[in-house]
Amino acid sequence: MPLRLGVNIDHAATLRQARYARDPESALIEPDPVAAALVAEKAGADGITAHLREDRRHIQDRDIFRLKEAIGTKLNLEMGNSADILAIALKVRPHDACLVPENRHEVTTEGGLDCLAHRAALVPTIRQLQEHGIVVSLFIDPEPDQIRAAADLGAEYIELHTGAFANAVGDARPHELQRLIDGAALAGSSGLRINAGHGLNYDNVRELDAVPHLEELNIGHAIMARALFTGLPAAVAAMKILCGAYPDGSRGR
Ligand code: PXP
Repeated sequence: MPLRLGVNIDHAATLRQARYARDPESALIEPDPVAAALVAEKAGADGITAHLREDRRHIQDRDIFRLKEAIGTKLNLEMGNSADILAIALKVRPHDACLVPENRHEVTTEGGLDCLAHRAALVPTIRQLQEHGIVVSLFIDPEPDQIRAAADLGAEYIELHTGAFANAVGDARPHELQRLIDGAALAGSSGLRINAGHGLNYDNVRELDAVPHLEELNIGHAIMARALFTGLPAAVAAMKILCGAYPDGSRGR
């Protein structure tokens, strides 16, 4: 199975909000994250990812409903575990929901979800999402205890947090890669399906060829940053080629 590319279009909304957050009815509003999603799909994205944050700093509620209507691939909604966001998710019914930790002051998602500490709150959320036909993923660090807890919670997928790997330099780099390799091996043997994301870019993504069982990468910042210079279609297509080089399980990893 080829490695899928989920393109995170949050930063198209970041750019829009930078100018129009205080003037949401303006006829001049741009760019439209839904238009970005459609361009990304046309360039080969296998799915669109968007994070509806509690502070609505980029993606707005309306964007999520419009994305669900407009896109032809699948919508992966990244969401914190709060009642108001859950209510929106149950209305929108994205194909996937990826539960992430959320802290208002973070610039982006920093650590993985703590499935042990928040188990009691996660159980009913996961159940409701699944009852609405939504595939649940838990965004976690490659920690054995977290992986076992995610499996115990009955999530279909985990998304391995690749941020520590992406930021690691020197001796820390092979160490962080090995944590991802070991985490993926444990998750695979625990019956979990595995995505990965955060901090991935055109330089580090091929290092993940060593990590087994990956099905999908969710990548935002690097693609949008490159798109400023090459255009979004070329930026998506270039990342798709890198994903295409991931060793296929059927070729005997
Ligand atoms: N996956 C998850 C769960 C995230 O929270 C983010 C950041 O919104 C990403 C992937 C994409 O990270 P980046 O923008 O660094 O590619």
